[in-house]
Amino acid sequence: MCGIVGYVGPQNAVPLLLEGLHQLEYRGYDSAGIAVTDSGGLQVVKTAGKVSNLRKIVPAALAASSGIAHTRWATHGEPNDRNAHPHTDERRRIAIVHNGVLENSEQLRAQLTADGVQLASETDSEVLAHLISRSEATTLEDAVREALHQVEGTYGIIVLDADRPGELVAARRGSPIVLGVGDQEMLIASDVAALVRYTQTVIYLDDDELATVSADGYHTSTMDAESTTKFPTSVDLTSDEYELGSHPDFMHKEIHEQRAAVDRCLRGRLDRRFMSARLDGIGLSPREYQQIRRVKLLGCGSAYYAGQVGAGMIEELARIPADAEPASEFRYRNPVIDSDTLYVAISQSGETLDTLAAVHELKRKGGRVIGLVNVVSSSIARECGSGIFLHAGPEASVAATKSFTNMSVALALLALELGRVRDLSLAEGRRLVQGLDDLPGHIDEILGAEEEIASIAKRYANAEHMFFIGRVRGWPVAREGAQKLKEISYIHAEAYQSSELKHGPLALIDPNMPTVAVVPDDELLSKNISTIEEIKARGGPIIAVTDADLPSGLVTDVIRIPRAQPELAAITLSVPLQLFSYHLAKTLGRDIDRPRNLAKSVTVE
Ligand code: G6P
Repeated sequence: MCGIVGYVGPQNAVPLLLEGLHQLEYRGYDSAGIAVTDSGGLQVVKTAGKVSNLRKIVPAALAASSGIAHTRWATHGEPNDRNAHPHTDERRRIAIVHNGVLENSEQLRAQLTADGVQLASETDSEVLAHLISRSEATTLEDAVREALHQVEGTYGIIVLDADRPGELVAARRGSPIVLGVGDQEMLIASDVAALVRYTQTVIYLDDDELATVSADGYHTSTMDAESTTKFPTSVDLTSDEYELGSHPDFMHKEIHEQRAAVDRCLRGRLDRRFMSARLDGIGLSPREYQQIRRVKLLGCGSAYYAGQVGAGMIEELARIPADAEPASEFRYRNPVIDSDTLYVAISQSGETLDTLAAVHELKRKGGRVIGLVNVVSSSIARECGSGIFLHAGPEASVAATKSFTNMSVALALLALELGRVRDLSLAEGRRLVQGLDDLPGHIDEILGAEEEIASIAKRYANAEHMFFIGRVRGWPVAREGAQKLKEISYIHAEAYQSSELKHGPLALIDPNMPTVAVVPDDELLSKNISTIEEIKARGGPIIAVTDADLPSGLVTDVIRIPRAQPELAAITLSVPLQLFSYHLAKTLGRDIDRPRNLAKSVTVE
């Protein structure tokens, strides 16, 4: 979703800002723009479409020592040149870039119009430029603070004032802002991805905090103008991790990083003495673990489906009732919050607004919530305060792959630890620790079969609809599989519990309706085979993804994977489905990393 970059320092800001926007492209956007100050005053260049379009229209001679830039994902007003950021005041003195949504913008637009201000766009964000410009405060920071006191909603902003070229002011509420500290230069961004090429030293702003930055430093303060003290931290990322390397796109790269990602997620967390897991970040004692009576997992999209994988594992291994729920629904149904329940907020980005809002609702009602998050220092990680980091590394493709796998692995660790403080025996613990140990090797083996999976996927590129079915352990795998296919190929894919097929959707089975059947080698194997027979009898093509030996001739195509411990099978069964969707979408020539209408991290409602 929207991306922000700012720069002040001795270098020419223009190429640096454009490169920063390029690094943020993965978040999803529909227009882009930059504003810089030079001797000729404020220069703004913006356009609908890609950063590459912007590059083409930025004058080659444009140079400046400070500037701001933005990629916009339309919320208020269609994606066109006028609505693209930066927005300015009428005198073109102030320029702003804004992420988030201003809820009282209609009111503020009406007031400004009544005062004779001509608004140039249909956006909520533009009001900020006018409010800041109309302030009589003597410093830019105070003017920004004054304007922010008038708005309701969420924001991450950077403000540029043509009268004060060496200075930028940033602020955040609900939308991330990170400062990059360089050598006699400062950067600002909504995501470290835009910064790591230039500096590894960063400062994360907190909600309701402002920063004034200049080439030689920064000053941070609260909305009440109290100075705050921030300690720079070092990000453990290099710009290589944001580069494609030899891969055609990020989804391919990230699918292939899964062995290493799972290794990192498991590192130091398997307790081979007690055959349990060691999750120190949760900060609960064994006694507190024992007091948990229920586990509720919350997330959106793939994070929700990973939650469903985790709920299954927790119920099986720890015998604690567990269920997953879309975080996007949670706060609107006035949920009953129970003090014996452990709530788990799951999010790759740690910035998904719906999940963050669920965390706020939980905390407001006194619930105990931990985070299962990939991005360290993200809003959800910080709001939860404790939890499990996924250590998947940066994920740029909109379609979650390695983050989904690591969410499932982290939840397996949680299930194991919850189980071992209860009734899960040492022998069972040993079997599962071994099963977790085997995962990276199994993933490698699956990735090694990419060509075979690709050739199967290509055969289904003409399908208009597809079913994904699974039973119990296979059901969330089917849901995530269907989600992947929809997201990147635009083929209509629906997931069903295998057992539900005969209660309605079987009517749709014919030779033009392929079904992907997720078939774990478990005690439900014969039931799954019966369902496949029913589909086959009606002429439906079947692609089975399985770690079992299926009777020959049963299915049209089979993707065979290494046999996993049954409770962990969901983790490995998901991986071939990523490759299946990837190659199917590739055959159709889709823009794999930037599927239409979607954003990597949805930071608005
Ligand atoms: C967006 C993405 C999905 C993702 C979901 C949750 O909708 O398009 O792929 O699963 O957000 O993202 P999170 O960062 O919270 O895991």
